Amino acid sequence: MSRSLGHQNIWCWGVEMMMCDRGIQPKYYQRVAKLRHHRSLHRYEYCQYYSWAIPSNKAIEAIAKYAPIVEIGAAGGYWASLIVDHTSDPNSVKCFDTKEWGSDQEFHDYRPAKQWHPCDRGDHRVLKEYPDHNLFLCWPPMSQMAAECLTHFKGMYLIYVGESDGGCTADKAFFRLLKRKYREIDHVPLLQWSGINDRLWIYQRK
Ligand SMILES: C[S@@+](CC[C@H](N)C(=O)[O-])C[C@H]1O[C@@H](n2cnc3c(N)ncnc32)[C@H](O)[C@@H]1O
Repeated sequence: MSRSLGHQNIWCWGVEMMMCDRGIQPKYYQRVAKLRHHRSLHRYEYCQYYSWAIPSNKAIEAIAKYAPIVEIGAAGGYWASLIVDHTSDPNSVKCFDTKEWGSDQEFHDYRPAKQWHPCDRGDHRVLKEYPDHNLFLCWPPMSQMAAECLTHFKGMYLIYVGESDGGCTADKAFFRLLKRKYREIDHVPLLQWSGINDRLWIYQRK
């Protein structure tokens, strides 16, 4: 991955923020405090600038196998940019987001601070134009968005980054559809923020 160094830095920030949040302070506190001071970084800022989930090389490699990919709710397209770096193909991920700020729950009402990969305006309705792509959902909101995507998705593989049923991503209808129509074929643990239980799952249509 050509941007692995920067990526590693991000990973380190994630680890250190997590340690700080968990109170594992003696060894790391000064470094974390310095990072906080210089970068003013905490989880919300990380989410705004990068993504709601912390990627890893392993996760990006696992996703890249399923290119071409269409991502709905991509916001700044950070994960897409890493996948494109990995595949060296700018067309390996097509990103969409409604960008109707405030239409989600308050927690998701934010504006990405940086556009890492081009993201067009669109929702589940664009999926009919990408029957040969696999679907990527990263931290879909707790609205009907993820279930609508799954309903309209015609491809074979779903890549989902978020929490499991009952968590703070997607809704009940999404997990019902998932159980009925898909089988899990792979998962990759992710570095998690304190109090967050997200991971990457890959599903195949039954
Ligand atoms: C929690 S954010 C996750 C953003 C990005 N995937 C990430 O990991 O940083 C949820 C995103 O879904 C988008 N969104 C919400 N409802 C949507 C819909 N119906 N169709 C497409 N995008 C939607 C929001 O605008 C927001 O960018």
